[in-house]
This record gives sequence, structure tokens and C-alpha cells, in this order.
Amino acid sequence: MNGQSDNHNAARFLSRRVAGLKPSGIRKFFDIVATMEDVISLGIGEPDFVTPAPVLEAGIRSLRAGHTGYTSNAGIFELREAVCAHLERLYGVQYDPGSEIVITVGVSEAVYLALTAILEFGDEVVIPTPCFVAYQAEVTLAGGVPVEVPARVEDNFMPDAAAIRAAITPKTKVIFLGYPNNPTGAVASREVLLEIARIAEAHDLVVLSDEIYDRLVYGVEHVCFPALPGMRERTILLGGFSKDYAMTGWRVGYACAPAGLLRGLLRIHQYSIMSAPTTAQEAALVAITQGEEHVARMRDEYDRRRKLIVPGLNQLGMPTFEPKGAFYAFPSIAAAGMDGETFSELLLKEEKVAVVPGSAFGAGGEGFVRCSYATAYEQIEEALERMARFIQRHG
Ligand SMILES: Cc1ncc(COP(=O)(O)O)c(C=O)c1O
Repeated sequence: MNGQSDNHNAARFLSRRVAGLKPSGIRKFFDIVATMEDVISLGIGEPDFVTPAPVLEAGIRSLRAGHTGYTSNAGIFELREAVCAHLERLYGVQYDPGSEIVITVGVSEAVYLALTAILEFGDEVVIPTPCFVAYQAEVTLAGGVPVEVPARVEDNFMPDAAAIRAAITPKTKVIFLGYPNNPTGAVASREVLLEIARIAEAHDLVVLSDEIYDRLVYGVEHVCFPALPGMRERTILLGGFSKDYAMTGWRVGYACAPAGLLRGLLRIHQYSIMSAPTTAQEAALVAITQGEEHVARMRDEYDRRRKLIVPGLNQLGMPTFEPKGAFYAFPSIAAAGMDGETFSELLLKEEKVAVVPGSAFGAGGEGFVRCSYATAYEQIEEALERMARFIQRHG
């Protein structure tokens, strides 16, 4: 088929919702990086560690034992039990493993399930941005309308409760939170989350809380949203294994919610997915029950790199908010006098350092770039030297 008729068919056949989606601003840079040599990538959003050995072994054991069939739709019961016990131990929030949790194909699937289960066409979802690139697109795909509320560097990139309140209309159904945050590294404080809880209660809203980076916090508390007073009944908690346990490729995560709500998610999951990968579920069980020392080791190493990259960027004249969670630094590029896209493209071409323009993460991200420190310490040192040359030329 020639290109013209393919385009014509795409225009005729694709739904308007899908045709209107913008490609992810992250992918574009990876496509360029893939064609270049000697690039130092601060662009990736995944751990540079291999999955811890006992977890790997559990996956291999599972395969060797011939566990190659489906599991129950909601996931292996022992894993559901272990995740619920883990959440209760860490945050004091209780979920019933029999009816209030579904094991998913990463948090990505959990986001899809949650939004599809609760949104009617035209419902509005208030999202503090910058945020993970998938949120707005997933809301649109589920028929909803994303309403972005920029978080500001002056507020340490915490969600702005007053701005959230101001964004609420009669069509608002959901507040979508993602803390510790990708791309800023902000961790939302208990005070701010309590304010948001009051808003959710006053306007009878659902809260989606993506807590995939919950274990990657540096010297501050992670507050689990459904553990706040009155919030369990209106929250869908999304959690996973990709980041905390270095398991991105295994594709395993979970959603927890009160039984009635969870049944809705499970209904979609059983028709669209059947069950999360069996090997990954058996590995995840070992991760969550025996992975603690490995989480601590990886977190310590991220922290060491964080203490290199944040002062390093500040010294270059790129003011950088001190991230307290995840593995991203989010420096301002104001000194370079160009927008984030131009900055990232030129930095890649001239110095072979890949970063992601902040605008890829929503309205709140313009004027910044995301630098991941899930990259070896020595690579970060070299990247900072290259960036210093770049800023000297353009600053
Ligand atoms: C905030 C956030 N949520 C969800 C995901 C997707 O995670 P998973 O691998 O569990 O699908 C990512 C991945 O980058 C993320 O940063």
C-alpha cells in the first residue's frame, strides 16, 4: 500500500480520540538517540539496575516448574496477600486480598483500568502537572477530559491545592495524583495531601493515586493517600514493581480499591488482559517479601547520584529544585535562553547528552528539562562536564 492511501485509510478508520493523540515527547528523543553513538542518556525513566538476583531466580524457578498457564484473573492469591500485608505494614491502610486488589500489567494497565472503570464521556480529570506522560492521553482514551493544573517550582512542585479547587467544575469526577513525582522528584507533603483530601470530600471526587515510586524517597516521608482519614473509600491506589524493585520489563503492578470499585476494574481486566504474566507475578512475590535489602541498596545508590547531579546542575547555572523522591532532577533552563525542545535537541546534537524537555510532561513543565539519575555515577559526572561546555557556549 502506498503512503498516500495508508494515510487516507488512517484518516477514515482511526477514531478521532486516537488520531488526535500527540506522540509522547519522550519517544521522539529516544528515536534520535538510537541513531547516535557515545550518547550519555539522562533521558531514561527506568532503573539501570538488573532485577535483584533472588527475584530473577524466582522467575526462572517459576518457568522451570512449568508454571506457564494463566493465574486467576485478580492474580496469584499469595501475591495479593503479600501486597496487602506490605501496604498495611508500611502505611497502615488495609485492603482485603480476596476482593480489593487486582494484579496488573504494570501501573500502566492499572491507570487504564481505573480511568476506564470510572469515567463517563466528558468527565473531567484534574491533573497536577508536570506529570507522567501517559496520564493525559489515558484520560482522553477513556473518554474523559484532562484538566491540567500546573505545580510551581516556588511550591517545590507540590500540587497546588488552591489551583485544584479552582479547576473543579460540575463535570469534575477525578483528581489524579502522582507522587513521588515523575518528572520533578517532588514528594507531596501530608499537609498538602490533607488539603486535597478535603477538596475530594467536599466535591465527592474519586482520587487516583499513582504511588509507583513510594519506596524511592530520600529522608522524607511518603504519605500513602488512601491512608489519610476518610480517603480509602474514594481512592484507587496504583502501585508497582517497575521502579522500586528494578522490574520494568516484567510488567507487573497492582490497583487497590474498595470492593465495589475494584469489581469494576477487575471486569475490564478479565476481558482485556485475563491475568498479569505468571512468571512476573511469582517473581514479584519474592520481591515484595524478600526484596527489602535490595530496595535499600538501590535507593542508597540513587541518593549518592542525586547528591552529585543536583549541586552539579546548580553550579552550571541551571537552578535545580532538590528532588526528594523518584530518580529525576528537573533543572530550569532559563539561563540558556531557549525553550526545552530546542535545548534538548541542541544538547543532544552538540554534546551527545540526552535529556527530556519538560513540556513533554504537561503545561507545568515548560522552561525545564528532566535529567534522570538512574544512570551510572561516572556517566553523570561526564554528562555534567559536557553540559558545562554547552551552557558556556549558549548561556
Ligand atoms: C509515574 C509513573 N507511573 C507509571 C509508570 C508506568 O509504570 P509500569 O512500568 O508499572 O507500567 C511510570 C513509568 O515511567 C511512571 O513514571
